[in-house]
Amino acid sequence: MIRKFTFGNPFPTEAVVETYPAENVTLPYFSIENGSFSCTLEPNAPVYGLGEQVRGINKRGWIYVSNCTDEPHHEETRRSLYGAHNFLIVGGETPFGIFLDYPGHLTFDIGYTDSNVLTITPEDWNLDVYLIESPDGLCSSIVHLFRRMIGRSYIPPRWAFGYGQSRWGYMDEKDIRQVARGYLENGIPLDAIYLDIDYMERYKDFTVSDERFPDLPGLVSDMKKEGIHLVPIIDAGVKIEKGYSVYEEGVKNNYFCKEADGTDFVGAVWPGRAHFPDVLNPEVRRWFGRKYKYLLDMGIEGFWNDMNEPALFYSEKRLKKVFEELEKFKGQNLDLEKNNAFLGLVNTLANNPEDYRSFYHEPGNGREKVRHDKVHNLYGYNMTRAAEEAFEELEPDKRILLFSRSSYVGMHRYGGIWQGDNTSWWSHLELNIKMMPSLNMCGFLYTGADLGGFNADTTEDLLLRWLQFGIFTPLMRNHSAMGTREQEAYRFSNREALKRTIQLRYCLLPYLYSEYMKAALKDTMMFRPLAFDYPKDAEAAQVEDQLMLGDSLMLAPVYRQNALGRYVYLPEDMLLITSSGPEDFRCRKMKAGHHYVKAAAEEVIFFLRKGQLLPLAAPAANVAETDTSHLTVIAYPGEDCSYTLYEDDGISRNYGSPDNYETITVNRVGIASCYGHRNRTVCAIKIKD
Ligand code: GLC
Repeated sequence: MIRKFTFGNPFPTEAVVETYPAENVTLPYFSIENGSFSCTLEPNAPVYGLGEQVRGINKRGWIYVSNCTDEPHHEETRRSLYGAHNFLIVGGETPFGIFLDYPGHLTFDIGYTDSNVLTITPEDWNLDVYLIESPDGLCSSIVHLFRRMIGRSYIPPRWAFGYGQSRWGYMDEKDIRQVARGYLENGIPLDAIYLDIDYMERYKDFTVSDERFPDLPGLVSDMKKEGIHLVPIIDAGVKIEKGYSVYEEGVKNNYFCKEADGTDFVGAVWPGRAHFPDVLNPEVRRWFGRKYKYLLDMGIEGFWNDMNEPALFYSEKRLKKVFEELEKFKGQNLDLEKNNAFLGLVNTLANNPEDYRSFYHEPGNGREKVRHDKVHNLYGYNMTRAAEEAFEELEPDKRILLFSRSSYVGMHRYGGIWQGDNTSWWSHLELNIKMMPSLNMCGFLYTGADLGGFNADTTEDLLLRWLQFGIFTPLMRNHSAMGTREQEAYRFSNREALKRTIQLRYCLLPYLYSEYMKAALKDTMMFRPLAFDYPKDAEAAQVEDQLMLGDSLMLAPVYRQNALGRYVYLPEDMLLITSSGPEDFRCRKMKAGHHYVKAAAEEVIFFLRKGQLLPLAAPAANVAETDTSHLTVIAYPGEDCSYTLYEDDGISRNYGSPDNYETITVNRVGIASCYGHRNRTVCAIKIKD
C-alpha cells in the first residue's frame, strides 16, 4: 500500500508517475519535531536504499546528505556523491519504505547521532512523503511498489551491454584509431570508445574540433564497420563566447539560469566562464535536447552527460571577491592562522553553497521563479531528460545510449548513471559492488563504475579483478583520468587474462540482457542483497559482498589485493562455477553454509541457484556479432529446471512483446529444450555429481 503525505507547497519534481491523493492524517511511524522526521529503529534492523552513496548496503550508522555534488573523493567520511535518491527501506518486524520527494538539501541521520533513531531533516517544509507498506513483509515487494510508482527504468540499446573503453586524454582521431587498433589486433572484444571533452572545440557543447577531429562522421562510420560506437560527452555548462550559436541562442531567448537581478548567472567549468541552461523549464529542455541532433546526424548513437550537479569551479562574483581578499595577504607573514585563512579562501571557490543560493530557475507552466538550491538535485535529471525526450522525437524507432553523472529519482526513466570519479583503489571496487543493489532499488538499472578506477594509477591485478566484477554490470566501461597510468586492457602483461575475462561478458550477454529487460519491464531489481532473496536467513542478512544477480546467479567477487580466493556464504545448496574465460566453466555442487572458495588471479567465481540455469553464448568480437541462435546451458543438476529468456531486436523501442519471451528447460537427465518463437538450439553442459 502506498500513501502520500503532503507538507507545504512542494515543487513538482515529476519523480512519481502515478497519482495518489494526499492523506489528511498524520504520517505513521514518524514523529515530527525540531524540523525533522524521526522514527525509532529496531535494534540491529537494517536500513536499505539511498542509491548512489558511500558505505554499505545496510546504510545504518552514518549521516548521508542528498545534495548532488561533484565529489571526486568517494571516501567513507563523505556524505554526498553525485545523486540524490531519497528512498529508504526501514527494516525490522514490519519493514516499510519511505520516499521523500524533495529536491533540496536533505539529511538522513541513520543511527549516527542516536544508534536506534532515524532522523530525516529537510531544509524547509515543502515536500511530498510517500510511505510504502509491504503486503507480505518482504523488502522486494516494497521495492516493486516503489518502482511501479516512479515508472519504468531506462532501456538502452543492446550494444550498450558490450565492453567500452574510455579515457580522459584521447586527444584526437589518431588516439581513437590507436585504441581501436589495440583492441582489434589483440582480439579483445569492444563495443564502444568514449569521447571525453577533448573532441570539442575549446570545450564547447555540440561542437567538434576541426583540427583534432577533421572528419568525425568518417571516423564514426569507420569505427562502426568494426562494431565500435563512439560515445561523446556533453557537459552542463555552455561556454560564453561571442558567435557560438548555443550561447547566442540561449542568451537571446533567456534560456540560461539567472541571477536575482535578471542577468545570466556566470559560473566556470571546463571552458572557463559558462552559462547554465535552465533545464527545469520545458521549453529550454526542448531547445537543449534538440542540440544533440548535431551529433546524431554524424552517426553518433550514445552520449554521457557530465558536470550536471551542476559542478562549479567558481562563480564569476566569488572569484572576484577571493582575488580582492587575497590582496590583503600581500607582504604579510603567513603564520598558521593566516596561512589557513589564505588557503581557505581558494578552497571555498568550487561548488560553494552560497553560489547555489544565488541563481534562479524559471520553471514555466505559470510557476514562480525558484532559487536554485531549493531544486538543486533536479538539474542533472532534467538535463538528461532533455536529451532523452529529444531522442524519442528525433529517433522514435531507435534507442540511444544515455547516461548521466548527476541524478534524482525520476531520471532513471530517461537514462542510466555511471558512478562518477572513483579511484583505483580496492575499496572502490568494493564500493561498486555495494552500490549496485542500492541503485537498483531506486530505479537505476543501467549503471556501472569506472572499471580499473578513474583517479590514480591502476594495477594489473586491480583491473583484472574489477573486470571480473564488471562483466556482470550493465554498464561495463573502463575509464581513467588524464595523467594516470594508461589502462586499456591490451597494455598489460596479463593481457590474455584480461581478454578472456572481457570475452566472458559476451558469453553472459544473453543472460544479462534478459535479466536487465525483465527487471526493467517488471519493475524489479537485477542486483539484490542476499537478504532480499533469503529473508528468513539471519546470516544472509549480514552478507554485503555477495549479490544476487537475476533469477539464476549469486556473485561473490574477489576484491582484495593478492587474494587467491575468498570466504563465501551459501544460503542454500548451489553450483559453484569457476571460469578463466570462454569454454572454461568448471562446476562443483556445494552445500549451503560457509566455505572458502579458491579463485586464482585469472578466475571468476560465481554461483548458480538450485533449479535454475544459465544460458551462455559463444564469445564474439562485439554485441552485434554475438550469436544467440545457439546457446549452451549450465543447469543445476538433479532437478527439472527452467528459465525465462527475454530477447528482442535490441534497437527498437517496442519492448515486451510476448514473442520476446522463451522458456528454456533442462530435464533430469540433462537434455535442454527451448520453447519460443525463435529458431534457437540449446545444449546443456554435462555436470558431474
Ligand atoms: C569529470 C567526469 C570524468 C571526465 C572528466 C573530464 O571529472 O566525471 O568522467 O573524464 O570530467 O571530462
